[in-house]
Amino acid sequence: MRIESPRYTERFGSVRITDVQRVLELDSGRAKTLPLNENIAVNKVEEDAIKDFEEKMAIIIPIKDEMLKLFEGVISGVPHECTIVVISNSRRKRVDRFKMEKDTLGQYCHFTRRDAVILHQKDPVLGKALGDSGYTDILGEDGLVKNGKAEGMLAATLIASVLNKQYMGFIDADNYFPGSVWEYVKCYAAGFIMSKSPYTMTRILWKYKPKITTGIYFRKYGRVSEITNKHMNNLISSKTGFETEVIKTGNAGEHAMSLKLAEILPFAPGYAVEPQELISLFEGYGGILPGSSPSVTKHGVDVFQIETRNPHLHADKGELHLTEDMLLPGLGTIYHSRLCENETRQQILNELMQQNILKAGEEPPKPNIINPFKNINMEKFTGAIGEYLKTCSALEDQ
Ligand code: GDP
Ligand code: CO
Repeated sequence: MRIESPRYTERFGSVRITDVQRVLELDSGRAKTLPLNENIAVNKVEEDAIKDFEEKMAIIIPIKDEMLKLFEGVISGVPHECTIVVISNSRRKRVDRFKMEKDTLGQYCHFTRRDAVILHQKDPVLGKALGDSGYTDILGEDGLVKNGKAEGMLAATLIASVLNKQYMGFIDADNYFPGSVWEYVKCYAAGFIMSKSPYTMTRILWKYKPKITTGIYFRKYGRVSEITNKHMNNLISSKTGFETEVIKTGNAGEHAMSLKLAEILPFAPGYAVEPQELISLFEGYGGILPGSSPSVTKHGVDVFQIETRNPHLHADKGELHLTEDMLLPGLGTIYHSRLCENETRQQILNELMQQNILKAGEEPPKPNIINPFKNINMEKFTGAIGEYLKTCSALEDQ
């Protein structure tokens, strides 16, 4: 593919956030030696280089009661070399939706000659393996993984690590276009190729996020994202003294990171997970609060933001989902950050009151931070779940 070269990078301590890079060409042809002047404004990312990263990447698909047709489309868009890890929190009572997902995935893998694993988030073996290896932050009192997208994503990341994957790409199961899914993975790989650090993340920005009204309207960004980005940029500006608009992907559900980065990052539960990743980076490695690790200081952390060609269309979960599940917890991560000063706090409160989400005197919820993976005993976890994962293969019943 051809993608714009990084033109502007904002530095925040050890964290390097690159301004949006657009995809120019989805397929850039065979590998050739480039004319010298091509590399200045445009990056040609070769197919083979992309495939090398796809081999090392797990695509993690969190799913909760989505339409099977959408799920089927999503998996069909994941490039062949990637290992698919599905983590499901779907209903099992009355109608066993998890079983239906497993069957769909199994049939797909059977015909496409590939393998995948699928686990239920409430699988007792998973809960016990996590508990026994000391990773209890995402467990409930019943010893099972708690509800929530982040909780599923993190359990799946650890599973992908047992499967020896070094990169994790997250893709929601409710994407309408398989072509978008395919492009996300290419962008993830392109980010990893451009990165100069083992601590690296790629976040996707959509060229258009269509809304279906009477016709179809190609809206530039999601409304929630715009607000989250604004306040996150305020937070950075207040620290650096220079106004910035560099954050364009505060809520990016579609994103990927190296295992090395996932290991050191404190996460937030539920839908607050994506904004919190950036906040955790600023807090941990922004050079303002103490506590950065020497290895991260040496290599830095790269965050790429890549704008896809394909539009993003996913299932509409309604207004309440946008405000209560996304906006409020997202702004909560900024509001409760140890970096957040009074002015940004006040602006967040004003925003939420204006939108009638909060009343005067109320605050957005404080995320219960999930500790980084470095606290888990990986040997124990691998020992506890390694063999069991064979029974979670999508091909098991095929
Ligand atoms: P949005 O797209 O960010 O507005 O939120 P969605 O509701 O579409 O959720 C994103 C993805 O996470 C979808 O694929 C959901 O099915 C999935 N998801 C939501 N809640 C959970 C959960 O508790 N566990 C798991 N494993 N996945 C979830
Ligand atoms: Co969605």
